[in-house]
Amino acid sequence: MAKEKGVKEIEDLPGIGPTTAEKLKAAGYETIDRIAASTPSELSDITGMSLEAAKKAVDAAKQATTLEFSTASEIFETRKSLGRISTCASSLDEMLGGGVEAKGITEVYGKFASGKTQLGFQLCVNVQQPVDKGGLDGTVLFIDTEGTFRPERIESIAKAAGMDPKKALENIIVVRANTSDQQILAVERADKTIKERNIKLIVVDSLMSLFRSEYPGRGALGERQQKLNAHIHKLQSLADTHGLAVYITNQVMDNPAILFGDPTTPVGGNIVAHAATTRLYMRKSKEEKRIVRLVDSPSMPEAEAVIKITPNGIRD
Ligand code: GTP
Ligand code: MG
Repeated sequence: MAKEKGVKEIEDLPGIGPTTAEKLKAAGYETIDRIAASTPSELSDITGMSLEAAKKAVDAAKQATTLEFSTASEIFETRKSLGRISTCASSLDEMLGGGVEAKGITEVYGKFASGKTQLGFQLCVNVQQPVDKGGLDGTVLFIDTEGTFRPERIESIAKAAGMDPKKALENIIVVRANTSDQQILAVERADKTIKERNIKLIVVDSLMSLFRSEYPGRGALGERQQKLNAHIHKLQSLADTHGLAVYITNQVMDNPAILFGDPTTPVGGNIVAHAATTRLYMRKSKEEKRIVRLVDSPSMPEAEAVIKITPNGIRD
């Protein structure tokens, strides 16, 4: 919360006049806290102000910001009221502690046709439901990096959920990203749309495919991971700021270091592993059945759930 010294609006910061403030607001930098959490180079990129001036503004914003300290029991109360999106499979919802949680990043990795995209479609529909029906009463930003978004699937899933399929489609904003830069920009510029459209779910399907193809080989790894880190960081900050859920799908590779057991490992390395609040591993079973394993969660034990991909969407 920003207080102190009469600094309340971003216009009260040194070096930020009306024009600069307009530019910042248009980019979603609307509060003192937001400026305090930014880097000078970010601000300078957006506004064209010098790095020095930007640093002064950030420092002043930091000074005007007082962090709130909470007791664990207060946090417990807040966490209990955290929104969750139902997956339409009760076993999977239960394993997740009630569904895919808001304010966090849920990652699903698995081989092709394991159902990662289908689960994403189901969430796109369910998030639109009212809270008592397992939704967050919000809309969706879908970042499609593989060209696999299928409106006709959304239509079937929405119909099966008893919703108006036309409305369901209207409530999903799709960005087709052809390069990792477009993928990054889609997230960087999302603040305004998120507010205007009450977006409660961001889907990135898939997180790594463009990064992998554009940065091949060991030589490019450092730069790739750096960009990826900033990208994921931004996703997490949107989740926190707007109380929305982030669902990312991820590809896999066989890890040769694993001699016994399943060598399937998600790509993206430590950066993705650490950023994902909840990690799920999805694999094919017989026919329409899929096994979902909870690999990593802040509060739930490791477990498995069996779901089905039906014409109506995800089911038990
Ligand atoms: P990649 O993106 O290739 O890595 O795979 P993915 O994990 O995203 O797989 P996806 O979610 O696309 O799942 C594909 C599987 O879902 C197919 O093999 C089908 O079994 C099932 N599926 C896809 N569309 C339909 C549909 O319209 N009806 C039904 N019943 N199943 C479908
Ligand atoms: Mg897919």
